[in-house]
Amino acid sequence: MSIKAVILAAGKGTRMRSSKPKVLHEIGGIPLLQHVLNTVKQMDDAEALVIYGHGGDQVIETIDHDGEWVEQREQRGTGHAVQQALPFVDTDDTVLILYGDVPLIQQETLNKVLHHGKNNEVGLLIFNMDDPTGYGRVICDHNGNVQKIVEQKDATDHELQCQSINSGIMSVPGGKLHQWLTDLKPNNVQGEYYLTDIIHMAVKDGVKVNTESVMDEAEITGVNDKMQLAQLERAYQQRCAEQLMQQGVTLLDPQRFDLRGCITDLGQDVCIDVNVILEGKVLIGQHVRIGANCIIKNSTIGDHVEILPNSVIEDAEVGANCVIGPFARLRPGTVLGEKVKIGNFVETKNVNINAASKVNHLSYIGDATIGANVNVGAGTITCNYDGANKHHTTIKDGAFIGSDTQLVAPVVVGENATIAAGSTITRDAPDAQLTLSRVHQFSKDNWKRPKKKS
Ligand code: UD1
Ligand code: CA
Repeated sequence: MSIKAVILAAGKGTRMRSSKPKVLHEIGGIPLLQHVLNTVKQMDDAEALVIYGHGGDQVIETIDHDGEWVEQREQRGTGHAVQQALPFVDTDDTVLILYGDVPLIQQETLNKVLHHGKNNEVGLLIFNMDDPTGYGRVICDHNGNVQKIVEQKDATDHELQCQSINSGIMSVPGGKLHQWLTDLKPNNVQGEYYLTDIIHMAVKDGVKVNTESVMDEAEITGVNDKMQLAQLERAYQQRCAEQLMQQGVTLLDPQRFDLRGCITDLGQDVCIDVNVILEGKVLIGQHVRIGANCIIKNSTIGDHVEILPNSVIEDAEVGANCVIGPFARLRPGTVLGEKVKIGNFVETKNVNINAASKVNHLSYIGDATIGANVNVGAGTITCNYDGANKHHTTIKDGAFIGSDTQLVAPVVVGENATIAAGSTITRDAPDAQLTLSRVHQFSKDNWKRPKKKS
């Protein structure tokens, strides 16, 4: 006896007007179907089965799901879709039916619906809609008992007046589901096997149909087109922002914050300014300030770090007390020790920069190891690429690199070495000495500035 969550995800999603299968479109950077699977994962002892069809291989490749994948080769209706799962459903199981394109359903709601299925009755999630157009209507008798569900296309004018809609989400005892689905007939305008017909069958068999509802319409909203996708994206972002604020994060404007992934670790007293996007897996320490318009992806930000506006950080580790930006770009493989300063228009890639070193202005530092207390002057470039291969630059502790220096890798700058401004360094520079490579300066005394010919 177990709980089988059957997730319908075989539909094409024509109205998305996209080559991508509908359930792979993303909300908050996570595919629609993955949202549903993640919610099922939170429920104790529920086993998920995904009914897939359109874009099959791509769906299986993209989605993280260890459970059963069941193919529905031809899409002949929601009832037909659930029929495909029957070989995996025991008569004493409880089946929870979910939709791969209804991503924001919450675990608490599912538990309420599931409860009825466990009681050997039917649980049905409904919603009262001002404009129920397009949805199946939940028809009740005058005592308020559910009688049947009628699809929009099959409904009488009177039935169309009904504002109580079927979300599609329901729980059904396994044995009964076997029986009812076997009896389904495609006797309707669309010639499809309607899952919703089992509601009337339940009533005929004397099985009670219990309804549950939700406060937030977003929970039961399906994605059929890009408008609904955008609408649910906003609802989801609001939910994320509220959760973060409940955890103590200061969001200067919760409407202008986007999470496209998850914050796996979060310290206290984090303050996030407007238009910040966090992507993938991000870890944020305590007392971190993130300035306006920053994008941080798959990175770790240490305690007391300040990230100034317009900085872009990807696959990087930023140590405690660093100051980054404004307009800094930390590319993959950037690892910063404590108290490092990376200033404006600095790009780093595949580098280790140790404690208290500074790269403050207009530099490119790639494939390098930089020691502690190093000062890299404005306009310094590590020439790491010879057109075919990448080479490493090492700058040891306490070195001072004058402005506008080119370090032609492979090259090592010694401990406490000083490189004079404007140098092109092609050979290793020894410890503690001044190294310079620079054309000698001279002045022409008889020189005249050219004049424009008249
Ligand atoms: C369905 C319900 C309707 C309900 C609405 C809620 C039926 C007959 N109708 O209508 O009462 O108000 O959902 O959104 O169930 N799918 C498959 N295989 C199929 C057909 C559909 O996997 O053969 C999947 C789709 O990918 C989708 C879901 O089932 O995720 C719903 O199918 P859809 O065709 O959108 O049903 P609706 O007509 O919207
Ligand atoms: Ca639909």
